[in-house]
Amino acid sequence: MPQMPQGIVKGGKEDVKLNNQALFQTKAYINGAWVDADNKSTLKVYNKATNAVVAEVPDMGKDETARAIEAASEAFKSWSKTTAKHRHDLLLKLYQAHQENAEDLAKIIVAENGKTLAEAKGEIAYSNSFLEWFAEEATRTYGHTVPSPLPGVRNIVQTQPVGVAGLITPWNFPAAMITRKAGPALAAGCTVVIKAPAETPLSALAFCHLAEKVGFPKGAINVVTCAKGDNEAAVGKEMCENPAIKKISFTGSTRVGKILMSQSSSTLKKLSMELGGNAPFIVFEDADLDKAVEGAIACKFRGSGQTCICANRIYVQEAVKDEFCKRLAAKVDKFVVGNGMDQGTTHGPLVSEVGVNKVDEHVRESVKAGAKVLVGGKRGEGLFYEPTVLTDVPAGGPTDREETFGPLAAVYTFKTEDEVLRKANDVNVGLAGYFFSSDVARCFRVGEALQVGMVGVNTGLISQNVVPFGGVNESGFGREGGKTGIDEYLVQKLMVFGGVGN
Ligand code: SIN
Repeated sequence: MPQMPQGIVKGGKEDVKLNNQALFQTKAYINGAWVDADNKSTLKVYNKATNAVVAEVPDMGKDETARAIEAASEAFKSWSKTTAKHRHDLLLKLYQAHQENAEDLAKIIVAENGKTLAEAKGEIAYSNSFLEWFAEEATRTYGHTVPSPLPGVRNIVQTQPVGVAGLITPWNFPAAMITRKAGPALAAGCTVVIKAPAETPLSALAFCHLAEKVGFPKGAINVVTCAKGDNEAAVGKEMCENPAIKKISFTGSTRVGKILMSQSSSTLKKLSMELGGNAPFIVFEDADLDKAVEGAIACKFRGSGQTCICANRIYVQEAVKDEFCKRLAAKVDKFVVGNGMDQGTTHGPLVSEVGVNKVDEHVRESVKAGAKVLVGGKRGEGLFYEPTVLTDVPAGGPTDREETFGPLAAVYTFKTEDEVLRKANDVNVGLAGYFFSSDVARCFRVGEALQVGMVGVNTGLISQNVVPFGGVNESGFGREGGKTGIDEYLVQKLMVFGGVGN
């Protein structure tokens, strides 16, 4: 059995000790100032492993958000006029500042999100890579010229920043989802208002501290913090409906994405929606099984299963199903679940009670329908859940309907390629998909047939700064990272010159 923590959920208060304590900011950041909520109310930030309070941050609403948008609009007037080289240099300084503080930034993630220190360091490396990449991309927002069919006419297409960008970020990657949005926005010449997630606002505030230190002008970057519920809804609505915001980029659930999209329709904003997935992970009988197991572990249990691209439905071909399950279960058995700061911990807690309940419901419902528990299957204390492997999961269960977003590996059996492709594509979302096979023709065939935005072929790890991240169908639209990531924050301006002569 995986090792589970005992007696660490103690509550109380806890200090987060850093080398550079100034990174630990607990006020919101609007127009270059560290500010409280107008009514001074706060929300508590918990260590997800110990349930201790690590900070209290402002619980803001509509009015503070409107002021942040006003500040960003004012700053846009000058920031959008800076040279691409200037923005490159400043973003590179921000990247360097993040690199120098990497260890502390990782500790902040562990304190507020619960992932292990090793995973948090991995996230910081990933997060910082977007700052470096988009610093470079700032200087490559090329336009083009187009030969005209009309005599004496010259066509020039330029790119311009879209305007103030509203960025709504999730708790599962408290740092990386900020840099993946703010990096390209700032590089393009946009200013930003960030709504930090209620569960993990501290990484967003550390980002502002470093941005201030390296010299970003006041108003260019603003962070609003708020509790879940009414204030969160009010902040999101203001961002979507305020006409001064020209772009919304959201990472989160499909349900909330639809609400934001409908609210944004009143002002017809440019949108990027990185929404939920339900990733199929297919193991064909010609696969290298050890590599497939390694891929399943990496992709299913990353962040304790709390990523949008985690495998959710693991389909294994009949002939290799028992062997695959045996090897997978043996690896999961060795997990050490606990406080992310403790040496030796391989997997941390979940982020919320709601998340734990959902995993438990998925396990119970699947077992009731006939799935067998190979490993785990029970709640631990607090926000911990045993890493779980279920086999013989029947079709039509909860993991077919929605992503678990937790440490449950649900293994299904299939007979043929056609059958598994039909099942894999039988969902309304399409973010990531994975498969393992040593047949080159099949690799192309299956890769092209999967209805998803991203495919891992013989790998469970696909996330990188240099490639486009995003989905199809109800997983949303728009791409982050890669060479097109900056386009989400740019608009094309056509200038047609007449009377130029031939
Ligand atoms: C996400 O879960 O939203 C992002 C995952 C990643 O970038 O790898």
